[in-house]
Amino acid sequence: MKKIILDCDPGHDDAVALLFAGISESIDLLGVVAVAGNSYVENTVKNALKITEMASINVPVLKGAGKPILREQIVAPNIHGESGLEGVELPEPSKKYEEENYIHFYKRIIEENERNITIVAVGPLTNIGNLFLIHPELKDKISEIVIMGGGIAFGNTTPVAEFNIYADPEAAKIVFDSGVPLTVFGLDVTHQAKINNEEIRKMQEIKSEVVSKMGVLLEFFHKTYFDVFKIVGAPLHDPCAVIYLSDPEIFEYENYYTQIELNGKYTYGQTVVDYWHLSGKVNSKWAVRVNREKFIEILFENLKKYEKR
Ligand code: RIB
Ligand code: CA
Repeated sequence: MKKIILDCDPGHDDAVALLFAGISESIDLLGVVAVAGNSYVENTVKNALKITEMASINVPVLKGAGKPILREQIVAPNIHGESGLEGVELPEPSKKYEEENYIHFYKRIIEENERNITIVAVGPLTNIGNLFLIHPELKDKISEIVIMGGGIAFGNTTPVAEFNIYADPEAAKIVFDSGVPLTVFGLDVTHQAKINNEEIRKMQEIKSEVVSKMGVLLEFFHKTYFDVFKIVGAPLHDPCAVIYLSDPEIFEYENYYTQIELNGKYTYGQTVVDYWHLSGKVNSKWAVRVNREKFIEILFENLKKYEKR
């Protein structure tokens, strides 16, 4: 079992990743830290509380950073709606987020699980960037950071920058320069992990309220992807980062040296990947291909477990 902290900005695909992490027998979810990203952190933490409560995922939920480290804040209502989780009303959560400061939570959990803790980051990297600025000594105590972010060949928020990186490039630079083992799920692979309308309807038939409502939420997500990108099928970006932990063999990987562009007029926030290994350096393992059928099969196999909850 992998002990993980899930750092996320729910967000439709974050919510699917959270449901998977909360039930997979390969994952020991120690906590959820919300970050500003798809929506303001007040919304993302509330969405994390809603999903964990509905799914009876009994883990601490913490409110992380509300603003990027340097740049002006951006959010993504065009994809996720104003609330960050548009598409169906979920019950107001009765549980509250933890009083503990998220930086202290990270420090405490990392020190309690030294070299046996994985951070899964599927939103902007602000929380982890701040953590490393304040506690650089924690870097070599973390086994791996699994990131949904970036793209080798293309972006989705600018032509070359993907949202999670573009929302806080300075934080991303801190993380990519940290020396911590990084496994990256960029758009090149997450756009192969698309869920189609028929599979969304199958999810709505699963006899679990939280999962069937997740299916309704994905209908909204599927529509916004068509409206904005003219893409048929909703890329399940964030679930890639957690399904990797249970079934790494369904992906193929390449090792690259990745730098984050901070100064380019047209390229700010790009993950600049040394595709031809000209630098002779490596700081990140990128997933580049996925067996989509296996991915969907594993996702449904785990979501169906909620029928017994
Ligand atoms: O670009 C896709 C990423 O941005 C996903 O993590 C999605 O949830 C948004 O945060
Ligand atoms: Ca996300």
